[in-house]
Amino acid sequence: MTYDVTLIPGDGIGPEVSEAAVRVVEATGVSVNWHRVDAGAECVAKYGTPVPDEVVSSIINNRVALKGPITTPIGVGFASANVMLRKRLGLFANIRPAHTMPGVKSRYDNVDLVVIRENSEDLYSGLEHIVIPGVVESLKIITEAACTRIGKYAFEYARRNRRKKVTAVHKANIMKLADGLFLECLRRAAREAPEIGYEEMIVDATCMNMVLNPERFDVMVMENLYGDILSDLASGLIGGLGLTPSANIGETGAAMFEAVHGSAPDIAGRNIANPIALILSAGLMLKHMAEFEQAARVEAAVQRVLSEGKVRTKDLGGDSTTTEMTDAIIAAL
Ligand code: NAI
Repeated sequence: MTYDVTLIPGDGIGPEVSEAAVRVVEATGVSVNWHRVDAGAECVAKYGTPVPDEVVSSIINNRVALKGPITTPIGVGFASANVMLRKRLGLFANIRPAHTMPGVKSRYDNVDLVVIRENSEDLYSGLEHIVIPGVVESLKIITEAACTRIGKYAFEYARRNRRKKVTAVHKANIMKLADGLFLECLRRAAREAPEIGYEEMIVDATCMNMVLNPERFDVMVMENLYGDILSDLASGLIGGLGLTPSANIGETGAAMFEAVHGSAPDIAGRNIANPIALILSAGLMLKHMAEFEQAARVEAAVQRVLSEGKVRTKDLGGDSTTTEMTDAIIAAL
């Protein structure tokens, strides 16, 4: 069987780490027909949008996409291609697992948590306007429908993956209505899954607890902005952004896999980026495609290379290149 998969190489370090992930998938023996399409700044110049329709239709047709990071200009310019893609494809859940990796120096030995980030609303609505010069209003949109959907998903995820507890992260002490609604929906979802533990934690206290005692967390579910920030924090706990994969899952059957990290312009084009985050994202993609054995091989190969410690990219304290890391993982397969 040959799978059709949309490949968005992205920009910055995107093309380098995407090539690495494609090579690893090919080395597993899973046959993939890659449909390469571009999104981001270059498309704005050509098509007037960072996400041309052909990108969306390719993912809808293939139902699976592997995506490199895409740069979003800060403060000015076009809207995020990443946010646009997630919205246009209805990819409402962003699953970001972070667990301790063998051989990677980090402060904790036993982190194994999953951040489930609501992907479709919150402050990412992009609704901002100048009320009067010097005063800006930025809208945080929270709906019962989206909170119910992510709440149910978090408990389903916990059940399917034999997880024991869901922590709902919020700021309902201040945003009593918006985050209050989020909590209300989460409590309802928790009542429907009595076999899974449930707790609530205010986002600032969560940050402190993640830094002091991350081993206490299991599945964590939260709104878009908190999820964006706390998942980077989780990456830091296990050795950095070079290691954490993610999956964007939707109701329509489409799914998009990408690293948690961005386009890392500071190291782009130098063949020194760590390709592991996107390689593990490709592993999550294989799992999603029910290629369980090959997905497990990818994860095991990464773990083996990391625990041997001979090949390490700069972010992991070594001087190996992206290509050398990729070659080592393929050899370990
Ligand atoms: P970033 O994640 O690109 O980089 C943060 C730091 O981590 C940098 O020092 C970078 O060198 C390092 N880093 C990231 N990935 C690495 C890897 N694979 N190997 C080694 N080191 C790595 O975050 P930043 O700088 O805030 O964002 C850069 C651009 O990426 C922005 O335009 C942002 O909007 C975009 N971005 C895109 C995302 C996506 O496509 N899903 C996600 C996050 C950011």
